[in-house]
Amino acid sequence: MKVYLRTYGCQMNERDSEHIAADFAGRGWEIADSPDDADAIIVNACSVREQAELKVVGLLGRLVSARLARPRGGLPAIGLIGCMAQNVGAKIVSKFPEIDFVAGSRKTAAVAGIAEEIVRRRLAGRGHPPLPEGMGRRTAKFSDAFVDVSDDPSDFLKIDKHLSAPPSALVSVMQGCQMNCSYCIVPKVRGAQRSRPMADILREIERLAERGTREVTLLGQVVNAYGREFPREGGISNFVRLLRAVNEIGGIERIRFTSPHPSYFSDELIDSYGSLEKLCEYVHLPLQWGSDAILKKMNRPYRAGRFLDIVSRLRKRVPNISVSTDIIVGFPGETEEDFELTRSAFREAGFDMAFIFRYSPRAGTPSAEMPDDVPEEEKRRRNAELLGELEKTSRAYNGSLVGSVQEVLVEGPARRGEGVMMGRTRTHRKALFKAPESLAGSLARVRVLSATTTALEAELA
Ligand code: SAH
Ligand code: SF4
Ligand code: F3S
Repeated sequence: MKVYLRTYGCQMNERDSEHIAADFAGRGWEIADSPDDADAIIVNACSVREQAELKVVGLLGRLVSARLARPRGGLPAIGLIGCMAQNVGAKIVSKFPEIDFVAGSRKTAAVAGIAEEIVRRRLAGRGHPPLPEGMGRRTAKFSDAFVDVSDDPSDFLKIDKHLSAPPSALVSVMQGCQMNCSYCIVPKVRGAQRSRPMADILREIERLAERGTREVTLLGQVVNAYGREFPREGGISNFVRLLRAVNEIGGIERIRFTSPHPSYFSDELIDSYGSLEKLCEYVHLPLQWGSDAILKKMNRPYRAGRFLDIVSRLRKRVPNISVSTDIIVGFPGETEEDFELTRSAFREAGFDMAFIFRYSPRAGTPSAEMPDDVPEEEKRRRNAELLGELEKTSRAYNGSLVGSVQEVLVEGPARRGEGVMMGRTRTHRKALFKAPESLAGSLARVRVLSATTTALEAELA
């Protein structure tokens, strides 16, 4: 049997999908490259902005009509999972009664079992199940779909399978978020913060390293708050203890993490840069807004000055560090002066990369109650202006690398083909260079020949 998995959203969803793929493979399933000949189609979707949900509604519509047009009827089974399933799963099955199951964000470990059971019963001509106790429950009014968005408190502990050990692997260290930023749906769809035991995380990374992984990215919504539920040992935060332990794992050459929160960016974390040799000279540190008044309305408990201080201290420790961020423009009540403050903080921080989002009100979040009063056109203008700033800084940063020799981890063939491979520098810059495919998974040295805002053209040095 074959499963097609389609993933939207952040690296947490990506990582959950990897676990699910490995779970299917362990059950003897193949992973399909297209939905056309799959027995099960699973969409792991994101709710963070309205646009993200709308895209998936469109996709589900197309999948459902494609299935209705197929002679076999009844297959593939179609499932919606992840954050969007958690948020609006019941609504979605009332719109598309043909969807077979909905599993929420705390059911990840159960997804493969549910899909397998549905497909087996269909193939045996037994129509729609009642699934065995504990596997799902019928709650939707308009369809016989299984909708289970209940909380399995041990689900996150089970997310440790990997289909393969890529050169650069993702490892979840925690789930959920307790920060309650007023615009953000994540606490609602992912629940409160829960950290995995350190021993489990280290074992997972050791296994990846044995299979060939060289770089790990530790994942969490507030990753540097990892382990705040556990006692501290020796006065050191559990996140820094985790970094130190990963730094000791043989075979692992590079460590990254995402996303840290400015409020938990401790001095000892800053000091880890430059002292833990595997910790890469790169940080993705979301600023969100540069105006203190707006940060307060956002329930982001730091000021822009504190953020800039972290960045300048990091630059002092590691002068070549690359810093990226997330920014939202057009929050309710954001004036031109607020925007100018964001722009100047943006300039001062000198981001090499940034994800700039237009504010999108999300039902169920506190800021959805505030008037969404910055016109869409104005949001677009502010977005474009920051992108203009970004282009200048990232072009200058990439340009400064021309002529230099950089260490890259060769990840695999580049999309453009023609013998071109893709690797990343420790500072997370993408480099493209001609090299034999056998180099994938190893560290190589490349000379930078030219640079655009997003990539470096290079050759093996
Ligand atoms: N936990 C991470 C972010 C997770 S969501 C952190 O706190 O940094 C990823 C990004 O989506 C956020 O950083 C934010 O910039 C953006 N985002 C979240 N909610 C949004 C909304 N309602 N409208 C627009 N962008 C949003
Ligand atoms: Fe959302 Fe804030 Fe939590 Fe990030 S820290 S996931 S933006 S609530
Ligand atoms: Fe989206 Fe869920 Fe990530 S809402 S941003 S996929 S945690």
